[in-house]
Amino acid sequence: MLVLLIISWAFTVAVATVSYDNKAILINGRRRILISGSIHYPRSTPDMWPDLIQKAKFGGLDVIQTYVFWNGHEPSRGQYNFQGRYDIVRFIKLVQQAGLYVHLRIGPYACAEWNFGGFPVWLKYIPGIAFRTDNGPFKAEMQRFTTKIVDIMKAERLFEPQGGPIILSQIENEYDLVEYQIGNPGVAYSRWAAAMAVNQHTGVPWVMCKQQDAPDPIINTCNGFYCENFTPNRNYKPKMWTELWTSWFTEFGGPAPYRPVEDIALAVLKFIQNNGTYFNYYMYHGGTNFGRTAGGPFVATSYDYDAPLDEYGLPREPKYTHLRELHFAIKRAEPALVSSNPMVMSLGSNQEAHVFKARGLCAAFLSNYDQTYSVTVNFGNGRCNLPAWSISILPDCRTEIFNTAKTRLHGSHKNMLPVMGSFWWQSFTEPVTTPADKGSFTVDGLKEQLSVTWDTTDYLWYMTDVTIGANEGFLRTGKLPILSIQSAGHALQVFVNGQSVGIAYGKAENPKLSFWKAVNLRVGVNKIALLSATVGLQNIGLHFESWNAGILGPITLSGVNDGKWDMSRWKWSYKKGLNGEDMGIFSSRGSSFVRWTGGAGLVTRRPLTWYKTAFDAPQGNEPLALDMSSMGKGEVWINGQSIGRHWAANKAYGSCGRCSYTGYYNEKKCLSDCGSSSQRWYHVPRSWLSPKGNLLVVLEEWGGDPRGISLVRRTG
Ligand SMILES: *[C@@H]1O[C@H](CO)[C@@H](O)[C@H](O)[C@H]1NC(C)=O
Repeated sequence: MLVLLIISWAFTVAVATVSYDNKAILINGRRRILISGSIHYPRSTPDMWPDLIQKAKFGGLDVIQTYVFWNGHEPSRGQYNFQGRYDIVRFIKLVQQAGLYVHLRIGPYACAEWNFGGFPVWLKYIPGIAFRTDNGPFKAEMQRFTTKIVDIMKAERLFEPQGGPIILSQIENEYDLVEYQIGNPGVAYSRWAAAMAVNQHTGVPWVMCKQQDAPDPIINTCNGFYCENFTPNRNYKPKMWTELWTSWFTEFGGPAPYRPVEDIALAVLKFIQNNGTYFNYYMYHGGTNFGRTAGGPFVATSYDYDAPLDEYGLPREPKYTHLRELHFAIKRAEPALVSSNPMVMSLGSNQEAHVFKARGLCAAFLSNYDQTYSVTVNFGNGRCNLPAWSISILPDCRTEIFNTAKTRLHGSHKNMLPVMGSFWWQSFTEPVTTPADKGSFTVDGLKEQLSVTWDTTDYLWYMTDVTIGANEGFLRTGKLPILSIQSAGHALQVFVNGQSVGIAYGKAENPKLSFWKAVNLRVGVNKIALLSATVGLQNIGLHFESWNAGILGPITLSGVNDGKWDMSRWKWSYKKGLNGEDMGIFSSRGSSFVRWTGGAGLVTRRPLTWYKTAFDAPQGNEPLALDMSSMGKGEVWINGQSIGRHWAANKAYGSCGRCSYTGYYNEKKCLSDCGSSSQRWYHVPRSWLSPKGNLLVVLEEWGGDPRGISLVRRTG
């Protein structure tokens, strides 16, 4: 009896392992082709998680991959948040309960089109820090947070050798380019990061994606639209694809990209037939950048990504089902795939066969790379028709069970059906801030925005006075002076004597902006108030922590008797945030602090106006969204929680031609919504609603008409 117990104990310990060889990741000694999909836990709500995970499982996934979002978990240094959308342990346990594995990308750099790439903004203000290089303060913080996450996972017994679902981890993220740019300190840092990770003793392999020189035993992996030509840096490491981009993200000002599923399926099979062993859809469910979590600048609130599960968690067809069928076909071929190397033979000038043969097993992939013509080839049971740009799977080398270009379902329509319009709105217009307001301060010159706000708000006021003497020539000629403003971004609204005189904003490629306008100034003191707004912080690039935001100047007034005044070194007063934010008027308590007017007193098309209404939750359980097309720019709250920035006034610039699935894809190839709002609909999570009396608050910066806002339901 005792002997038996010891044997079974030894057996359990011995099999609970994750390792790898040149062919595959081995789980409990068995080589696997692993099919993975990214679902980022804070981009959906805990109430959505079980359903998303079940749909991922039904879709044929083995693994859920996620980043860890440091700035969500440690909003101020040493103050941790593992609640609500940041309850990562709950998320991982739900994946485990569904019988799936987890690939945990600890980073802690995430990039991910997430605010500041996932770094907390306070990190930037640690003295002497420089991100992602051989820098003492940075390495200390990175190690502290990585250890914190690993310790939580260990304490909850979530690594595979402990009986948990985590089979893989990641340290750093896409470091190749930065390392190349900074040279030796980058090499030293990546060696340090690798050793620091390995010394965590998690019992599961680590990967470094897009990092050719990933130190052993860490596996370097590929990210991209295609990865068939990637090879790991050692011949004993498996060929893995950590990010297979299912399309691309949307930016405010840009169109919505999409990627035909025929090409995604082709990319998968090109990879698998070339010894690929793990692939991960980035994203499988993209979700929503709630609150101010969108990175950028200018990343939209929707992070739909044209993923197999749409922003609302509904299957996107034919993508979802076609990939599901692909996954089952791969599983049928898996025993042959992991037991042999492919024999490649030509079937024509643009056609080939990859055949995997081992001990009575045989699986074949037949490919036609021609972008125009379909072909019929002789193979297996007979003749096989291969559409242009496609690959077929014959899991027994005889019968085709799947072809990447033969989709059975038609596209689903994005149905947004109005369920509620004509809310009863009330409005409150913010006074334009003055230097006398609470919390304001005055200094010489122009200040960088983040150094003042630490990103606790999108907004920073810059205020100064311009005194015009009665002898100014323009008063007689009527030729108005020109106010000119240079800003590092991202958006600007200019007020002169309390009136908005114009707006300007940058673009994703270049967040900088210039404003130039003739302004009406009167004799005496004129009040200039500039409202600078950020729209998500930079999440990528060399030392992006040092990138500036806000009005850095020069600011000039030309056309005065002296010619031109450089106002950049004048005294400027600052106030961070809007009054409504200070009071929290988006919450039920805070909303009672101001006097709202409704009915005939409703103010529309006025800048800096807050709107509120109350509504009952619609029946049913379809996902909900707000159609914000009548509005300009701002933010939306439901029962005190922000569903994100709205910016329907920012129209998608670009050309959206027809797009064929054949030929190599890139993020500019297939675009939709050109000329319309980059984002018109904004997800309202069902779980944020009560049956009755939900508070909806909208901040409008520029001027809009809330009577055009409607609540819609998303149907599949
Ligand atoms: C697959 O891997 C084997 C062993 O490393 C190698 O010999 C072969 O060329 C690879 N085949 C392809 C198609 O990449």
